[in-house]
Amino acid sequence: MQKLIINGGRRLRGELSLQGSKNSALPIMAASLLCRGECTLHNCPKLTDVYSAARILNCVGCRCNFSGNTAVIDSSVISETVISESLMREMRSSIIFMGAMLGSTGECSVSVPGGCELGPRPIDMHLAALRKMGVDIRDGGGRIVCRTQSGSARGARISLSFPSVGATENIILCAVTAEGETVINNAAREPEICDLCGFLRACGADISGDGESRIVVKGKKRLHGCEYRIMPDRIAGATYLSMTAATRGEIILTNACVAEMEPFLSVLEQTGCSIYTRDDRIYLRSGSRLKAVRDRIRTMPHPGFPTDAQAVLMAALITAEGTSVFEENIFNCRYRHTDALVKMGADIQVLGKAAIIKGVPSLSGAAVEATDLRGGAAMAAAALSAEGMSEISRISHIDRGYEKIEEAVRKLGGDIVRI
Ligand code: EPU
Repeated sequence: MQKLIINGGRRLRGELSLQGSKNSALPIMAASLLCRGECTLHNCPKLTDVYSAARILNCVGCRCNFSGNTAVIDSSVISETVISESLMREMRSSIIFMGAMLGSTGECSVSVPGGCELGPRPIDMHLAALRKMGVDIRDGGGRIVCRTQSGSARGARISLSFPSVGATENIILCAVTAEGETVINNAAREPEICDLCGFLRACGADISGDGESRIVVKGKKRLHGCEYRIMPDRIAGATYLSMTAATRGEIILTNACVAEMEPFLSVLEQTGCSIYTRDDRIYLRSGSRLKAVRDRIRTMPHPGFPTDAQAVLMAALITAEGTSVFEENIFNCRYRHTDALVKMGADIQVLGKAAIIKGVPSLSGAAVEATDLRGGAAMAAAALSAEGMSEISRISHIDRGYEKIEEAVRKLGGDIVRI
């Protein structure tokens, strides 16, 4: 098992080009199943979750080759509709293959996905929506067997009780080749939904309203291959900005999605950092001790403050002057990283949905275990600002979402090695 060894206390300084988005790449890879032909995806991040998605594509008969940050997927032949339990357990996003397989072949057999580290993550909304689209779903003994009548789903009006990202993606993936029109009310508005729709439109799909809460999909018989560039990763961006802020450093982030990061940037700015943006660049300078954020930081669906950036911003705020309060509204169990931060000297009290962070003057290095993807990144951010050596184990969590995190941090002058 690999570890990250971080010798903290150095200010991060330099320029970094942002990786492609994990949460766009995964549904887009699934969406390539709908295209009869080759899809070329540029800016595809090299991540273990992306390789898990490639293994699922291989298992159903598609070819998926990587060259640098370009993935070429050929789904002209789909020879299998069963995805094994072990592949489904590798990541939560495996569930997105359900809608894509249904849209592509009209049937599939999957199992409950993995990725439970943020608390219970049911898929009831996914299943209810697909049933409304005429999909017969038998759910028992851990397997979920789905079949459409006459080979394709039918359009429907669907109102989600919560704007779930995954449910919105599954409905879109099933709807693009369904018979008739599908309307999704209270759809998720995350930028990665727009990226998925952008890809599908490039393949010939008829979708409108993405980025708003009412999405309309008109079913098409067939989609074709395309060449597409995956958007930058706004959460990796938030992570490297938080690391720089935590170490009172200076960074130019290039290849960034500035507008999509605004909900995060507007909160980070309240800590006293100077932030300037231009085209696809974000400049941040944090010369002195950060200030606490006065208003409660409430995680909300986009365009609210992103839950995925809660842990990394917290890592920067633990040494800020004053008290900051987070309110986690998306996941029930997304404060598991706080014990490790406390071990490094942070003063954090978790009370239900709230986490109260009383700023301390400094942290000290410690041996900690990554609890989940973003929690692990938060530990790395805290370790970079701490005095002395930290050791982070179980970094397979971090590798799910950050492309060579140690190389990115070293490029900014951080003292970090992987052993
Ligand atoms: N939910 C249900 N029933 C459902 C679906 C969701 O109760 O059928 C609940 C979940 O349990 C959760 C909330 O709704 O409490 C939000 O879940 P959502 O479906 O929106 O999240 P997701 O699709 O599972 C994606 C990202 C997450 C990100 C969330 C919220 C991907 C691959 N994952 O998950 O990313 O936190 O949206 O923005 O896109 C990460 O990158 O670290 C990560 C966890």
